[in-house]
Amino acid sequence: MFVSDALDINSQGNLTIGGADTVALAKEYGTPLYVMDEELIRTNLRRFHTSIDKAYGGRGMVCYAGKAFTCLEMCRLVASEGDGLDAVSIGELYTAVKAGFPMEKVGFHGNNKTDEELAYALDNGVGHIIVDNISELKRLEVLCAQKGVKAQIMFRIKPGIDAHTHKAVMTGQIDSKFGFALETGEAFEAVKEALACENTELVGLHCHIGSQIFDITPFEEAARVMTGFIAKIRNELGYEIKCLDLGGGFGIKYLESHDPVPFEEYMERVSVVVKTECEKHGLELPFIIIEPGRSIVAPAGITLYTVGARKEIPGVRTYISVDGGMTDNPRYILYQSEYEAVVANKASQERTEKVTIAGKCCESGDLIGEGMSLQHAESGDILAVLATGAYNYSMSSNYNRIPKPAVVFVSGGKSRVVVKRETPEDIIRSDV
Ligand SMILES: Cc1ncc(COP(=O)(O)O)c(C=O)c1O
Repeated sequence: MFVSDALDINSQGNLTIGGADTVALAKEYGTPLYVMDEELIRTNLRRFHTSIDKAYGGRGMVCYAGKAFTCLEMCRLVASEGDGLDAVSIGELYTAVKAGFPMEKVGFHGNNKTDEELAYALDNGVGHIIVDNISELKRLEVLCAQKGVKAQIMFRIKPGIDAHTHKAVMTGQIDSKFGFALETGEAFEAVKEALACENTELVGLHCHIGSQIFDITPFEEAARVMTGFIAKIRNELGYEIKCLDLGGGFGIKYLESHDPVPFEEYMERVSVVVKTECEKHGLELPFIIIEPGRSIVAPAGITLYTVGARKEIPGVRTYISVDGGMTDNPRYILYQSEYEAVVANKASQERTEKVTIAGKCCESGDLIGEGMSLQHAESGDILAVLATGAYNYSMSSNYNRIPKPAVVFVSGGKSRVVVKRETPEDIIRSDV
């Protein structure tokens, strides 16, 4: 009925998430409001790590990609499931440290990490650093020497795969700001350089080919190319890489028409490729890391808004304006991402209209979507935009000095605030 298993309709005809009435949540906490079903987040994490157990004998780890959505409570949740974390900035690292996250299970990413960030990662015992380029390797080597520590590193590789996704989220091809290119020999030269370093140990290779990918073939291809590169390094340099980090990027259902591949199938097919290639090349099976972000949290989240103005422009379109917009969900203006929406207090009614849902920012492009099917929406209705758990809160901004919404977790019908709503006072907090 809905794009996510977290959602249902109760006897009052209201939309529910994780057993909680969304209209009541909007009343209790105000709007706009991010609501996430904690149980579904846990289920998704478990499906990933169970699939590694089944398909790959448990020789692997899930490192949840915090960029999709993170806060102290999310870090605690991931830690309680025994999973790792992929962090990309000092802010994400700091959040993990403050949440008491086991830092040895953290991988530190980024294409332009600062010395301050690298030093922070080393000081706080981050498990591994995914090095993006030679200048970073050199700076890290110096920092490690100064601190008298040896860092475990991986290299981010561009395997040269076309992941059939939006160009803004494609990352595995040669024209990408991320990582070392394989085709040009850049990656191989970098490996040679890393092996000559004294204060860093090259333990793994990483690739991430893009995001919101529905087809397993490019993932299989990436696994094949990466395993082949491990073999080349062993054959030509006599050094065997122990860890293969295959990134994230698994597609989710934003629209009824989307048909994502079950995680279990992804893991099964990729495991077969890694095992076959390792056997072919006479390699030990590497420890596998996967970094799902969107697929863990997107289906678990919704955003609730209050409908304000309704503007019917005859022969053109009907605008339904809400009390949020690109500040809490910039994905439409960035990628023209599509969503489904429901009038939460009319969830059992037919969707009879095609509307444009507009935000409240001073930008014509500030839309949640166009041509969206919706129940007849009027001022005062509660609108739910579905599958907003990833890259919404984490990409939110204070454009127009709009305070950010609160985030509420729901579990077994009970709700609690995990991120407080910002106030106008928060808006001037850093002003001098
Ligand atoms: C290195 C890396 N790993 C994992 C992810 C998570 O991707 P997704 O949320 O599509 O699973 C990203 C997303 O940008 C990434 O860059």
